[in-house]
Amino acid sequence: MASKNKGKIHMRAQWGSNIGFILAAAGSAVGLGNIWKFPGRAYQGGGGAFILIYILIVAFIGAAVLLAELTVGRKTQKNVVGAYKALGHPRWKWVGGMGVLCGYIISCYYIQVGGWVLRYVFSYIFSADAVYADPNGYFSNMLGQNGFPWIGAVVCPLIFISATAVVLLKGISSGIERFSKIVMPALLAILVVLTVRSVTLPGADEGIKYLLTFDWSKLTASTLLSALGQAFYSLSLGMAIMITYGSYLKKEENLVKNTGLICTLDTVIALVAAFMIIPAVFATDVEPGIGGGFAFASLAGVFEKLPVGELFGVLFYLLLLVAALTSEISILEGTTAYVTEQWHWSRKKAIIVLAVSSFVIGIFYTLSQSYLPIKGIWMDITNGVQFPSFGDFMEYVTDRLLMPLGALLFCIFVGWVWKPKHAITEIEQHSVGFRLKKVWTVLIKFVAPAAIFAILVSGLLFGMSLS
Ligand code: PFF
Repeated sequence: MASKNKGKIHMRAQWGSNIGFILAAAGSAVGLGNIWKFPGRAYQGGGGAFILIYILIVAFIGAAVLLAELTVGRKTQKNVVGAYKALGHPRWKWVGGMGVLCGYIISCYYIQVGGWVLRYVFSYIFSADAVYADPNGYFSNMLGQNGFPWIGAVVCPLIFISATAVVLLKGISSGIERFSKIVMPALLAILVVLTVRSVTLPGADEGIKYLLTFDWSKLTASTLLSALGQAFYSLSLGMAIMITYGSYLKKEENLVKNTGLICTLDTVIALVAAFMIIPAVFATDVEPGIGGGFAFASLAGVFEKLPVGELFGVLFYLLLLVAALTSEISILEGTTAYVTEQWHWSRKKAIIVLAVSSFVIGIFYTLSQSYLPIKGIWMDITNGVQFPSFGDFMEYVTDRLLMPLGALLFCIFVGWVWKPKHAITEIEQHSVGFRLKKVWTVLIKFVAPAAIFAILVSGLLFGMSLS
């Protein structure tokens, strides 16, 4: 925890160990995006071809931006808004503010989805038969199709956000870091068990073959953009997160190595998730997909056909729960750092106010999916055009507008305003070597901004249709 000494010097909180930081940052990166979005995208994007392009995007663009975010954080030891001021460019602080806003909106819906995941852990323990009997009906019922969804929108999300707040209240190293050190190995273990089960199912080899086949014809401009957007979302870039996590790093840690480790962990886990989901859906004749309808309803068809399928169901939703919790913790930490440092609130007050308010706003995310009184109002406002629900609208604003805009301006800031040479000085202190500095400079000045610009323009031109 941050503490005050007798004088006026404010000691900032720090990670207790580098491995603790790696696990916390990987916990942020590995989230719902890896498990319920990446496999479906890989399937739609032509298997191996998509995977190859995705890896290249992470290696060249994602890693370059992640390194820049960690560097700005570690250099300034500030939250994302304070960072611009500390670098002598207070006029840029609103870019940081946009990142905070983006994180806050994501937090609102992440809490809800985390709650649904928790609900399904219980469902597979106590009433898997009810899920199997009507997977779509069970899912829409949880979202309020047949009356106010107390459990799906209020009770389970409340438990989820309370757990997040408890970890955050304990601080950086005794809260976030300690929690990540316990649950991230558990996440890996569950992932391995489920993947081994999936690839050894009769008929799974078709799915494995699909993922290893390069079907270039499916790789269109829109799948390329979807890979780019997925990489940014998956690495938690363009928000207040990685700058904030970097700000708790000690000066002697190696930023380049850490960036490589986080990117590798995040990408390997997304790949393994694809080998967990795709072979299983091929083996059980379920249509692969993306998002809630797939993860909650379609997958019931897989678990129903497996021997002791309920057990695998419980493990799968526990995996999602851990992934979602560590991501939500990071999102709220980014906003908390901003509020405590810029508005001078106590950490406790900041966490409680942010947790309660994003929980309350998030309720409308769930209500807008199926609960008619709210869904109806939304339909009246939008006339059913473009965004089928308020939730889709929230995701559009964050993933297609705020996140790419924030990331684009951030790259311009580092590449052209603060200048790469200053970042390189920060990276290279304590005799850390950075052999790729020339390549990185080109990536952050030209390649990354151009790629992010493409995501932004496509979002503006095509709305949700490319997601
Ligand atoms: N990276 C997380 C995922 O892949 O699900 C999502 C996420 C976490 C987005 C944290 C944004 C964020 F700030």
